[in-house]
Amino acid sequence: MKSILKSITSGKEYPLDEVRFTADNGELLDVIHDFDAVKKQFPISRDYFSNKRLSINGQPSGGVWHFRELILPTIVESEIISKQEGNTRLYRSKQVASWLGLDKEKFFLKHEGENPTGSFKDRGMTVAITMAKHLKQKAVTCASTGNTSASLAAYASEAELTGLVLIPKGNVAVGKISQALAYGTKTLVVNGDFDDCMRLIREAQEKLSAYPLNSINPFRLEGQKSIIWEILAQRNWQMPDWIVFPGGNLGNTSAFGKALHEAKELGLIDRMPRFAVIQAEGASPFYKAFKNNFAALKTEKADTIATAIKIGDPVNYPKAVRAIKWTNGIVESVTDEEILEAKAHVDAAGIGAEPASCATVAGIKKLIGSGEIKSNETVVGILTGNILKDPQVIVDYHFNRKTALANPPHDINATLEELRQFL
Ligand code: F0G
Repeated sequence: MKSILKSITSGKEYPLDEVRFTADNGELLDVIHDFDAVKKQFPISRDYFSNKRLSINGQPSGGVWHFRELILPTIVESEIISKQEGNTRLYRSKQVASWLGLDKEKFFLKHEGENPTGSFKDRGMTVAITMAKHLKQKAVTCASTGNTSASLAAYASEAELTGLVLIPKGNVAVGKISQALAYGTKTLVVNGDFDDCMRLIREAQEKLSAYPLNSINPFRLEGQKSIIWEILAQRNWQMPDWIVFPGGNLGNTSAFGKALHEAKELGLIDRMPRFAVIQAEGASPFYKAFKNNFAALKTEKADTIATAIKIGDPVNYPKAVRAIKWTNGIVESVTDEEILEAKAHVDAAGIGAEPASCATVAGIKKLIGSGEIKSNETVVGILTGNILKDPQVIVDYHFNRKTALANPPHDINATLEELRQFL
């Protein structure tokens, strides 16, 4: 069994064990596995994945490494650094379905905020940090709007690697920055935005030999493929009509497209769902490119309350375009107001998620409104980050808004009379 790195544009190949993130000419790289060899060794099928019980290093494998044969088939088990990431819940919600106008039996929310550090990033991090260790790297680094830095910090600690994260000044939610500090990674607050941090990481990767764990790292995307396969396995391999999720740096869009493309190649599925990638209006270069038939990506200065997706120059753009084409997908944008309204509904349903995640639900609402998504279709929305990541947005909303769902606290004196008025 042999896996390689391969340029998505020119097809140029590189060994898997070479420390590189792009081809010589800067093109993005895919990890390509030899699935014929994998199939000779493992009886890959729906039943195989539905029935197998796997443990890694004496612990249940979790969702990512359950699909190890299709993610990193060549790695030795003892080298895997895992926190049992994945196996996240696929919620149903009567309230959210009814607000959206969808059939409650046909609407699901996959909650990636229930991963070890509270976001989907852990799925990619377990694979990329395993490779960092395998490639004998000493230091790992990333640019981040917050969640990648939280995840990197936790996994670098576990792997006993030096961690260094770059975050944009004033634009990272308090829960996320707290995690980076608490898990003990070096945190650099950069006077600039996420796109500046990302540019710096790409320069540093060439000149300072620090191993980047951003989604430009193709191993990150290998881990994130498991979100899609897990949804399919949880739904007994029934394909939904739509899979809807937020887009920022477009790592998930790229990984999810690859997951489905490979599932089709492996005979695990016979049809594709449609993707709907949702961007915040103030950070929507992918949406604008989509509207322009992907003629060109015009980078922009990003601005949105959903700081996780405040990105104007997405590094995975070419892979994401490919994913939209593979899935006959669409890209939509929603305003910050729409994100906050959707968030109030997701939160009040007792599920809760951070603002960027709720762009998913705001996008579904908009696409139902425009008739793109039909009320009888099956829709899986992905919530990417935990409600506790960004408490400030919640406090601001409930203290300051006059909406039906605003739920400010009330001060009372310690008397039964005062208490009674609230029951
Ligand atoms: N949702 C959340 C909660 C995120 O943290 C991110 C990205 C996205 C959606 C967008 O995903 O980049 O794959 O399109 N956060 C990155 C970070 C950029 O640094 O934590 P994407």
